[in-house]
Amino acid sequence: MDHVLTTGRLVLRPVTEHDHAGLLAHWGAPQVRRFLFDGQAPSPAQVTGIIEDSLRGFAEAGYGLWLIREIGESDPVGAVALRPLEDAGPGRIEILYSLAPAAWGHGYATEAARAVMEHALGRLGLPEVLAEVDEGNTASAAVVERLGMTPYQVVPGLLGPMTRYRRTR
Ligand SMILES: CC(C)(COP(=O)(O)OP(=O)(O)OC[C@H]1O[C@@H](n2cnc3c(N)ncnc32)[C@H](O)[C@@H]1OP(=O)(O)O)[C@@H](O)C(=O)NCCC(=O)NCCS
Repeated sequence: MDHVLTTGRLVLRPVTEHDHAGLLAHWGAPQVRRFLFDGQAPSPAQVTGIIEDSLRGFAEAGYGLWLIREIGESDPVGAVALRPLEDAGPGRIEILYSLAPAAWGHGYATEAARAVMEHALGRLGLPEVLAEVDEGNTASAAVVERLGMTPYQVVPGLLGPMTRYRRTR
């Protein structure tokens, strides 16, 4: 299965081990890691683990972590992922996304996440996709609402309450 996804403005391609330094820098930026990694910069070993999980995920299940770039450009502007959210129950899958701050405000996160959502619910045939949004992450809440996701639960998180959203097929 070809895991590259293309939208009107973006190309999404699965990460490889060559993306390690770029991801470390991207997720290490304070504005990006604030809600994504509970304020801590991920360690190099953590990023290695995320890439390995993604490689395995694409091989076994057709999803993992995609890098987002604008069509015609070579440098990634962010990342979008599907990954298990075991805390919400066995087999449940969440979507995550992040953009470099310079790429905020163009609709790229929504466009990329919509393509991944369609891939998940359509081609992969998953019954639902979840998202967890920390209280105060208004930009992320706006993305999930634009994706047509519905809030269904509030759970405690390290930074405070998190709202769980879902969208079904
Ligand atoms: C969450 C995050 C990706 C949202 O980024 P974002 O740029 O606000 O979201 P989008 O890319 O969907 O862009 C939406 C904005 O672009 C605007 N926009 C401009 N041109 C647009 C276009 N052509 N099409 C659509 N929207 C457009 C929209 O109006 C909207 O602006 P608004 O917020 O002022 O209403 C970003 O804040 C981020 O990377 N945060 C750190 C990581 C994080 O917390 N991730 C979430 C964890 S689940």
